[in-house]
Amino acid sequence: MKIVHSPQVMTAWSLRLRREGVTVGFVPTMGALHDGHRALIRAARLQCDALVVSIFVNPTQFGPTEDLAKYPRPLANDRRLCRAEGVDLCFEPSVAAMYPEGFQTTVAVPAIARRWEGAARPQHFAGVATVVTKLFGMVRPDIALFGQKDYQQAALIRRLVNDLNMGVAIIVHPTVREKDGLAMSSRNVYLSPEQRTIAATLYKSLQAGAEVIRKGTTDIQAIQLAMATMIEQEPAVTVDYLVACDPLTLDPLSSVTSRALLLGAVRLGSVRLIDNLVVAAPRTRISQRCG
Ligand code: PAF
Repeated sequence: MKIVHSPQVMTAWSLRLRREGVTVGFVPTMGALHDGHRALIRAARLQCDALVVSIFVNPTQFGPTEDLAKYPRPLANDRRLCRAEGVDLCFEPSVAAMYPEGFQTTVAVPAIARRWEGAARPQHFAGVATVVTKLFGMVRPDIALFGQKDYQQAALIRRLVNDLNMGVAIIVHPTVREKDGLAMSSRNVYLSPEQRTIAATLYKSLQAGAEVIRKGTTDIQAIQLAMATMIEQEPAVTVDYLVACDPLTLDPLSSVTSRALLLGAVRLGSVRLIDNLVVAAPRTRISQRCG
């Protein structure tokens, strides 16, 4: 596996391959790779000829009180995982290479970034949109893969790529979960053993909402109540938001007519967990519509 730090070398490598007709796949990461990343990398490996994984802990998507300094950086393990999964090139730019002296351009996707994670973390999505734009410019991929766990991020990147005609196909891979349902995340390592035992409550509460929808309830209050009732069983969990919204716009729904995105963020001590489920209302199922 080739390890590249320089953006110029990265671009030259990719452009040369693409000129030869090789398709380049890309999995951008902040490192601390886990089985969720492994699944993304495996899915990417099947869909392209040459595969690039980037490892870059992007400072501009962290708020001033967030965990930038202590964000896990197990680089040797990350490289080992990439090597084992057949990654061709690991791109590891430095902060100085990404944001050199004089850097000033940022990318904003205001409507999608406004709510939920964007409201809780005001600079976060501008940081994500900007770094993904830069990474795409450096890596020049044909396809790029993102995890559904960060649903709002994936929606924002789809919008960005479409709005700016970037010509990168975005593939969103289903969330990979621990046995008890907790969505895999690099930040799960911050959970104490006690917190870890109750962390799956977020997923359970999303499932409770999904079950109510699948039984035919369209009423948002009833759906949100089912989720809230489940999460309240764990007093150590503080809810940031736990809502039913439109899977495309991420705006809150007034009733469920077709599909709903159940979206949640909670805090367990200082650890913030996010998760989501997309659920179809029973009446939208084609088999039922066709009688
Ligand atoms: O999801 C992540 O790991 C990051 O937000 C990303 C997309 C690599 C941008 O820094």
